[in-house]
Amino acid sequence: MNLETYTQNEINFVNDHYQDNLLKELSQKFKKDGYVKLKNFIRLKPYQLIMEEISILEQIATHKNFTMKPYNTPRQLSVIGGSQIVNNSPFLLSLYYSSEVRSVLTKIVDEKIVECRHPEEFMVINFLLNKRSTHGWHLDDPPYALIIFIESPSCYSDGGLLEFISDWKDFCKRNDFHPYKDIEQAVKKAKKLGYVHQHWHEKQDAYILRADKNLHRALT
Ligand SMILES: [Fe+2]
Repeated sequence: MNLETYTQNEINFVNDHYQDNLLKELSQKFKKDGYVKLKNFIRLKPYQLIMEEISILEQIATHKNFTMKPYNTPRQLSVIGGSQIVNNSPFLLSLYYSSEVRSVLTKIVDEKIVECRHPEEFMVINFLLNKRSTHGWHLDDPPYALIIFIESPSCYSDGGLLEFISDWKDFCKRNDFHPYKDIEQAVKKAKKLGYVHQHWHEKQDAYILRADKNLHRALT
């Protein structure tokens, strides 16, 4: 099946409970916290299809192990970038272009959303598969990130966590840190003050993060 077929017979990715009342509630929460968990976001059938597609694609994932500038934070994970998704999976691409998903996102962030123009970053699949895997502290360039969980440890204590610090540049300004050069000391201070939020997600869950303002990392 190609992308045209998918967009013509658009798949309903989003679970039925994401109706206007809940979306209004989530929108208020997002405005306040810069983050919302979308519990059981993807319906079972499309989730299974996504899962199958990703298991096939996994063999073309590239392993990364480096320190990311300008944050000097580690990346240890395997990645499939946007161009590989474009070339190999019309189905996954249809998730990015889904008008249903976009409508839900627009209602939650309460703002017109536009496409990310970066050919590799607009949509990525990240695999954090072993104990040392991490997608270290950083801010994103685009304002909003929608993350969908395909697999996750069965218990909070086994990892699979998102951590973030709200309004990072503001926090650094107030505490006299450079937002890129002093990450280690600034995060230490944020931890001490209880400013590091931790969230765990199950498969089929998703979250939206104000990713250009909240310093974040994913770790196992
Ligand atoms: Fe990010």
